[in-house]
Amino acid sequence: MEKINLGVKAALFPSPVVMCGTYNEDHSVDVMTIAWAGMAASNLVEINILENHKTTDNIKKRKAFTLAVATKELMVPCDYLGVVSGAKVADKFEKSGLTAVKSEFVDAPVINELPLTMECELVSMDKGPEELRIVGKIKNVVAHKAILGEDGKVDVSRIHAIVWDNFKAGYYEVGEKVGQSFRESKKLDSFLAEHKSGLSQLAGWADEKKEETPSAACGTACGAADAEPEKKEETPSAACGTVCGAADK
Ligand SMILES: Cc1cc2nc3c(=O)[nH]c(=O)nc-3n(C[C@H](O)[C@H](O)[C@H](O)COP(=O)(O)O)c2cc1C
Repeated sequence: MEKINLGVKAALFPSPVVMCGTYNEDHSVDVMTIAWAGMAASNLVEINILENHKTTDNIKKRKAFTLAVATKELMVPCDYLGVVSGAKVADKFEKSGLTAVKSEFVDAPVINELPLTMECELVSMDKGPEELRIVGKIKNVVAHKAILGEDGKVDVSRIHAIVWDNFKAGYYEVGEKVGQSFRESKKLDSFLAEHKSGLSQLAGWADEKKEETPSAACGTACGAADAEPEKKEETPSAACGTVCGAADK
């Protein structure tokens, strides 16, 4: 498979799509869409937002915010809340059609229609190179009963959460469960025995076929390394200065 260098890109995929709820000075609700977010510890979340958002002001003043997982069914209002600012449209949240109640745990609103919300208290707000890096401590997570499985735990497949990609700014639904972490690895021996001919084709890249002709860069048959994909180099090989892996032969 030919590899292309894409340069510096935010290539971590997928990004979660979360709706950050805060209160304005007059206690009306503001919500903004955030994709640059993640877990920082089991009870800490991190969001990266620009300083000029109304949300930023609100978090500074109220020291609290909520983060609700956006869903496929409510993708339209969730997207709307990411393109209109509460600084310009005072009743932005009302216009979205969503509704909210005050969190029982922090000074921020919980959106009624979204099924999973983290209620967070501000821990820190640091200036990053382009944005503010805000860390919040989770004081509670509130969930609709409908997304809990029989074991009482959140069943992610019931949420219809959407995630985002930074390449094309698309939304994608989180799909079916395909495995169980820490358990799949136990199948490694039988998995490798089943796929003795190598994993390149199994990975499904249609044109993963080995090149039989010498590459222009190094004059050797670069595809030879594909026979043993686990040895394939990611960095330029000493032999030819390309990522073809010819040095492995
Ligand atoms: C999918 C999506 C993801 C976004 N992610 C972020 C983000 O991570 N950080 C940020 O500063 N703005 C992000 N935005 C833009 C803000 O949501 C947008 O500027 C919003 O209007 C700010 O609202 P506010 O001024 O009422 O706080 C995103 C927008 C969309 C549609």
